Amino acid sequence: MTFSAALRTLHDTAVAERVGERTASRLNDVRVFVAHEMLEVEALIARHTNGRSNGSGVAGVPPATHAARHLSDAGGKRVRPMALLLAAACFGPIDVRARELAAAAELVHMATLLHDDVVDDGDQRRGRPTSRRVWGNAVSVLAGDLLLVEALRLAAHAHAETWTELIDTLGLLVDGEVVQLRGRLAVSLEESTYFEIVRGKTASLFAWALRAGARQGGGSRTAIDALGAFGDHLGVAFQLVDDVLDYAGDANMTGKTVFADLLEGKMTLPLLRAAAMDATLPPLIARVRDGDVDTAVHIAARVRALGACDATRDMARSETAAALVRLEAVPSCAARDVLADVARDLVARIC
Ligand code: IPE
Ligand code: IPE
Ligand code: MG
Ligand code: MG
Repeated sequence: MTFSAALRTLHDTAVAERVGERTASRLNDVRVFVAHEMLEVEALIARHTNGRSNGSGVAGVPPATHAARHLSDAGGKRVRPMALLLAAACFGPIDVRARELAAAAELVHMATLLHDDVVDDGDQRRGRPTSRRVWGNAVSVLAGDLLLVEALRLAAHAHAETWTELIDTLGLLVDGEVVQLRGRLAVSLEESTYFEIVRGKTASLFAWALRAGARQGGGSRTAIDALGAFGDHLGVAFQLVDDVLDYAGDANMTGKTVFADLLEGKMTLPLLRAAAMDATLPPLIARVRDGDVDTAVHIAARVRALGACDATRDMARSETAAALVRLEAVPSCAARDVLADVARDLVARIC
């Protein structure tokens, strides 16, 4: 899906939710700000996933490049590069380095998706069979590695701090997934551990993208820190909604299999909240891990009926509110307003 198609999807989503004209005009604001730059970001992503045959100094050979293109061509929301560009635009024109960093943010994200689908046995991604279903786990892992290499190449000319923070972020992403993996056999998980996982596997990249954009745009130390904190809260809110959509979403909208977390044995906040309210659930969770799909459907219905999805959405709204507070430390400008609108739209999303 192209960026404009993604925007159309967001627009359609807004219509589906009847959130009305105001959201539609907000998305037009996003289009005005970054659509042109996003086309260039898309061209960079294509160049860095096409392999070395074009003689442009990039790495990659088939079938890793095919697996990478399979994911990239399917689109996705492109939230992280868009946020990075908006952070830069808070302070001045979006330059070529900011566009390279935006492409790097999406390449890192796509690498985590390729690896995540191997770890999670994911079958569907962006409305398509996952790369691992088409090419197998080995190719999928190597395609993720390839995307990481190309992301590092794209970020190589950035400020030294942006580079260092990217390396640190990659470490946090790995740690988040590993802590999650450690909890895979448990039928309970401390909420603090859940949030540690979410901060590592998801919020860290949002925070990096916002900080990198702000620094590249020429923001002050205070503004960079504020936008980084905005990204951190936004990332937590984003993952909370993703975890709700696994129980209460529509696969046609999300492009991913529903109840995948439950079937994988992943304890996310909706399930944690439901299990705290209904003591009959933990033993059932253990049965689902042994492949009992009917029980998974039953648990999912209980999770929704107990209001655990609503409670998780409420928490996502609180995180978004905290994100918006941090934006107040950024000098007032149109790009900042658009970032605020993106944050409000993401918490209401259904895909
Ligand atoms: C999916 O991210 C992984 C999470 C962090 C929840 P996105 O929802 O941004 O995935 P795409 O890029 O739109 O496919
Ligand atoms: C996001 O967690 C992990 C990444 C950072 C890739 P999920 O496992 O919930 O992501 P989805 O639901 O597979 O997209
Ligand atoms: Mg997953
Ligand atoms: Mg998920």
